[in-house]
Amino acid sequence: MPTVVLGISGSVAAYRAADLARELMRHGFTVRACLTDAAAKFVTPALFEALTGQPCLQDTFEEPDRGRMAHIDWARQADAVVVAPATANVLAKLAHGIADDMLTTIALAHTGRLILAPAMNPAMFASDPVRSALDVLRSRAAVIVEPDEGEVACGEQGQGKLASIPQIVRAIEGVARAGRLLEGQRVLITSGPTQEPFDQVRFLTNRSSGKMGSALARAALLLGAEVTVIHGPQREPLPMEAHRIPVQTAREMEEAAFAALPGHQWVVGAAAVADYRFAQVESGKHRRTGEPISVTLVPNPDVVAGLAHAAEPGVRLIGFAAEPSSELDVARRKLAAKGLWAIAANDVSVPGIGFDADANALTLVFADGTVAESGRRSKLECALFLWETCIARQLNSQS
Ligand code: CTP
Repeated sequence: MPTVVLGISGSVAAYRAADLARELMRHGFTVRACLTDAAAKFVTPALFEALTGQPCLQDTFEEPDRGRMAHIDWARQADAVVVAPATANVLAKLAHGIADDMLTTIALAHTGRLILAPAMNPAMFASDPVRSALDVLRSRAAVIVEPDEGEVACGEQGQGKLASIPQIVRAIEGVARAGRLLEGQRVLITSGPTQEPFDQVRFLTNRSSGKMGSALARAALLLGAEVTVIHGPQREPLPMEAHRIPVQTAREMEEAAFAALPGHQWVVGAAAVADYRFAQVESGKHRRTGEPISVTLVPNPDVVAGLAHAAEPGVRLIGFAAEPSSELDVARRKLAAKGLWAIAANDVSVPGIGFDADANALTLVFADGTVAESGRRSKLECALFLWETCIARQLNSQS
């Protein structure tokens, strides 16, 4: 049975979490409730224990199984963590990673998507801090169940009423369903820059941070895939749940990718592979003479094109094309020349997206000519868009 951790924070709407818990149980979920101290002013642990048949947590150091850290156990065992109602205070804490009670600690330890159903006074909901907390949380792939318009407990009118129970249940089921989209499937991703040595201390590289590759890996994990990432020396950390294979040069990336390829159903080339390497690598350190020098660069292998050539039929290969314009001609040419199933084009001339930025805007071009746009979003949201669009197409083509 799927398990939901139902976090309840201190809003008058806390009483409606009891109905939510019952409804989730009717939908086949095991429900584990967790209250903040403020929520416990409105409702009691005894109520949720009686309703759910499970211990209800409140204090960070509670351990229903002695010797087990409940915040880690509950976070790991949860198919979904939902906070309903979510107050302005809890949203701000979640956005900043503050974990000063059991609920926020579980939320921080949970690696899946959070589902947040805010409920508060309309002026508080419309305030800048709440809007920016929600933007941050959305950029990290949290699902926000928008509050309804109407009269709230204090008598004011506006948007702030906890969303309806069916809406919240649908959001939880959606996250649980999405978490199985790539279940049993293996995804191979190349990520980050490569470094091509000139001598022992210098190398040729590019501005790739590895953020998009990392986001693609995290998104694939959120959808239930087993993920292998072959990555150059990138600054951006990769998810711990991914198999990570570090390489330095394009040729090392090619070798590692070919070795890893069998058994993968999806391959994504997100690495900014250096197209050239030095014909000769000097041993030791090249000394300065004050004279001009010439070096010869020789072409590197095209990793993703080689993988497309070697892959079994049915393997979906997706490339990236970072182009200095919104024109799709070059992306289309790369898609065909490399033998890919799809290519994600992004316009690197637009400030704030692409290389090293936290946001991106992808245009997915498929081999049959169709196109899908993500719009400008965080790289994690773009990565989820890429996977969900590709999975939907694959399912359509099978039916
Ligand atoms: N790619 C690759 N190996 C290379 C070069 C590129 O695997 N040696 C992959 C990238 O990971 C990306 C796609 O090919 O998925 C397009 O990369 P890009 O750098 O945009 O294109 P290039 O083929 O290198 O062409 P150009 O540099 O002329 O734009």
